[in-house]
Amino acid sequence: MKRMRIVDCLKSDKSLESCTVAGWVRTKRESKENIFIEINDGSCLTNVQVVVGFGDSCYDIARQLHTGASVFITGKLLPSPAAGQKWELKPDKLIVYGDADSESYPLQKKRHSFEFLREIAHLRPRTNTMGAVLRIRNQVSYAIHTFFQQKGFLYVHTPIITTSDCEGAGEMFQVTTLDLLHLPVQDGLIDYSHDFFGAKAALTVSGQLEGELLALAMGDIYTFGPTFRAENSNTTRHLSEFWMVEPEMAFATLDDDCSLAEEFLKFIFTWVIDRCHEDMVFFDERIKPGILHNLESIITSSFEIVTYTDAIAQLKQASEPFEYAVEWGIDLQTEHERWLTEKYYKKPIIVIDYPHEIKAFYMKQNDDNKTVKAMDVLVPGVGEIIGGSEREDRYDVLIQRMQAMGLNPDDYWWYLDTRRYGSAPHAGFGLGFERAIQFITGMQNIRDVIPFPRTPGSAKF
Ligand code: 4AD
Ligand code: MG
Repeated sequence: MKRMRIVDCLKSDKSLESCTVAGWVRTKRESKENIFIEINDGSCLTNVQVVVGFGDSCYDIARQLHTGASVFITGKLLPSPAAGQKWELKPDKLIVYGDADSESYPLQKKRHSFEFLREIAHLRPRTNTMGAVLRIRNQVSYAIHTFFQQKGFLYVHTPIITTSDCEGAGEMFQVTTLDLLHLPVQDGLIDYSHDFFGAKAALTVSGQLEGELLALAMGDIYTFGPTFRAENSNTTRHLSEFWMVEPEMAFATLDDDCSLAEEFLKFIFTWVIDRCHEDMVFFDERIKPGILHNLESIITSSFEIVTYTDAIAQLKQASEPFEYAVEWGIDLQTEHERWLTEKYYKKPIIVIDYPHEIKAFYMKQNDDNKTVKAMDVLVPGVGEIIGGSEREDRYDVLIQRMQAMGLNPDDYWWYLDTRRYGSAPHAGFGLGFERAIQFITGMQNIRDVIPFPRTPGSAKF
C-alpha cells in the first residue's frame, strides 16, 4: 500500500495528479457544498486538508466519517484557495479502515490537560504535543549519534542487568526469578546463590562502569540506552525509567569533559533548530514563549564554569528564601540549581569540584582532599541535565575512597583491575535524554516528553 507521507506531500512544489496519503481524522467540518477533513499521519504537525465536494463519489463515505477514524485516500493535490495552506487534497478514492466511535473517542477537538492525556497515553501520540515531542526525540537521537560518530566515538552497548550499583545510591530495581513466597534463606538472609544469576541482580542505573572498561581499551566510546532508578521522587524532573547518553573519553581530563559537554549540547540545539522548525515554533507559541530564541542565544554564548565553592558563596548572598538552607557540603537542590542558572548567570553553567561526600566513589580526588573532579551542567528551567567527572585512575586512592564510602573493593575487582593494568586518565558524563528534551521543548513535566512514562505507582501501557 504505497502512500506518501503528509510531510512530503505538503512540501510538494507542484500539483500532483495522483497522490495517496493515509492517516487519522483530526477534525471534520461540513459546509453547504463541501466536507473538510483534516488528516494527520504523524509525519509532521500540519494536517493535510481533504475537500470532498457534494456529488463527489466519496461524499457519502466522507459524511459518515468520525474524528479518530483511519483513512486511506487517493486524489489530486491541488493549490488551496484557503488562507494559510498551500495544498489541499481532492479525493478520487476514500477507504475507511477503522471508524472511531464519536461518543467514546477521548480525543475530540478541544484542549485537553496534560494530566488527562497521561491517563490515555495509548492515544496520546495522536495529539499535536506528543507528536511534536516524538519527532524531536527522534531528531535528538539522530543528532546524538551523528555528533559522536563525526568525532570518532565508538557506539558500545553496556548491560541492562547488573550486579553492581554504579551510583552507590541503592536506588535499584531488583531482578529476580526467586519465588517471592518461598525465598531461600541462610542465616536470616536471602541466599542469592539460588537466584537466576547466582547473585543479587538489578536493572542498571548507569552504563558508566562498563563504559569505562570499554574506553580503557577502545578509546572514546559512548552508550545511549535506558536506565532505571527506584527513587521515590514524584517530581517533574524524575522518571523511574529514562534514557541516558554516556560518553567516556580515554586520556582525558575534567577540562576535556566540560568542553565536550558544551560542544555536544550546542550541536544538539543547533540540529533541532535546523531540522525541527515547525515543531519548535509550536513549542514556542503554545508551550513556552521564547524557547526558540533561548536556544539560539545559548548556541552563540559560552557556558560559565563555576566551582561548587563559589556557587555556594553566591547562593549564600542570594536574597531568595530557599527551602533548603545553603551550607558548604550540601547537595545542591533543584531550587539552588535553578537560581544559579536562571537568576544569577542567566545561562547554562557547569559546576565543578563538588565535595567528595556527596558524589559517587569513582570521581577523581582533588589535591585538597575535600573535593572531586565532578561536573554538573545546569540549565535554566530544568536544572541538572548532565552529570559527569574525571574518574579516579589511581588504584590506591580508589580503594581508599571505596572503603570510606562503605563499598567492598572485592565486589569491584574487575573495575579495579583497569587501574592495576594500564590505568590512564579518563573522563565522561551522562546526559539525561528526557531532561534534554524538556529543556528543548519547554515542557513542564518530564512525564510529557516520553511516550509511556514509568514513575512511582505507575507503569501503565
Ligand atoms: O548525575 P547522574 O546520576 O550521573 C550518572 O549516572 C553518571 N554515571 C554519568 C556518567 O558520568 N557517565 O545522572 C546523569 C543524568 C543527570 O544529570 C540527569 O540529567 C539524568 O541523568 N537523570 C535523570 N533523568 C530523569 N529521571 C531521573 N530519575 C534521573 N536521574 C538522573
Ligand atoms: Mg547527578
